[in-house]
Amino acid sequence: MAKKHILIVPGDGIGQEVTEVGKKVLEKIAAKFGHDFTYDEALIGHVAIEATGDALPAETLEKMKASDAVLFGAVGHPKYDNDPSAKVRPEQGLLKMRKELGLYANLRPIKLFDELLSASSIKPEILKGADILFFRELTGDIYFGEKGRKNNGDTAYDVAEYSRYEVERIGRKAFEAARTRKKHLVSVDKANVLESSRLWREEIQKLALEYPDITVEYQFVDATAMLLIKDPKRFDVVVTANLFGDILTDEASQIAGSMGMLASASIGDGTGVYEPIHGSAHDITGKGLANPMASVLSAALLLDISFGMKAESEAVINAVDQVLKKGFRTGDIADETTDKSMILGTDAIGEEILKLI
Ligand code: IPM
Ligand code: MN
Repeated sequence: MAKKHILIVPGDGIGQEVTEVGKKVLEKIAAKFGHDFTYDEALIGHVAIEATGDALPAETLEKMKASDAVLFGAVGHPKYDNDPSAKVRPEQGLLKMRKELGLYANLRPIKLFDELLSASSIKPEILKGADILFFRELTGDIYFGEKGRKNNGDTAYDVAEYSRYEVERIGRKAFEAARTRKKHLVSVDKANVLESSRLWREEIQKLALEYPDITVEYQFVDATAMLLIKDPKRFDVVVTANLFGDILTDEASQIAGSMGMLASASIGDGTGVYEPIHGSAHDITGKGLANPMASVLSAALLLDISFGMKAESEAVINAVDQVLKKGFRTGDIADETTDKSMILGTDAIGEEILKLI
């Protein structure tokens, strides 16, 4: 029996709905495996701005630091998307959390459940067997460099910056993971143009000397964007910078059928944060339509990575697999062959998953 304290941070939009299902899954796992999990909840994003004026209130950050793991939902609100001059934005909360918790490595596993082969817009024969693990650097790059306006506000800039240690620590995590998989690593940059990418490549090349058992392939990000769709099976572990990783993993979500299926783990110096890669999706918020599986699979990653609970994690993934095998779908992963009666809402599909744990 293990005693663990988990902070639930649902955030905005469908984050609220899907995280509730993720939490229920953790409760079920604790009951089934005899663990003692305790929970607390905290605000981030738009809901935090509304309540406190701050996208990441100090209280939330303190609770995060004091917990064993964080199950996170999503942040964002359309109100800010159409107002580029807004000074306080929900996304600031997310970025500050990543920086403050030292979450420099974002793991995004892209794994296609066989049952969803036809849910993707990519041909099944190209997809079948695709299984990619992305390591996205999460606390550097153009996201965190100097930014501002000049020339009386008529020119804007964002600086993309990397230091050697930042590349080394994420690179090392990717090499170590490659060792446990197919021993093949693709490092993605834009070293033909960007100085920060040239430093990135130098550091990965240095690390490669320490991992002679790993085959390393260096790709430019534009080529990776093309190859992911052309032949996803040629990838196993991929390591890349913050911005490239953001873009490539949304693209790669199509390999898994839907963004609604993809979980991520953000890890680094302290508490790990587990969250779907999808956003707050205000277009479907409050309708009970959101696919909770990314949150459920985030809970599985939490159990595995932060708590070292392999069997518990597999029980969760297996339950998702069984629900799909039974033919249950949410709207985002249904296709023309899906019987309407098998298309369930957030809570109903959550219940089906819980039954199988
Ligand atoms: C993600 C999101 C965030 C990012 C946004 C919400 C700031 O798209 O986690 O991928 O760009 O990192
Ligand atoms: Mn993104």
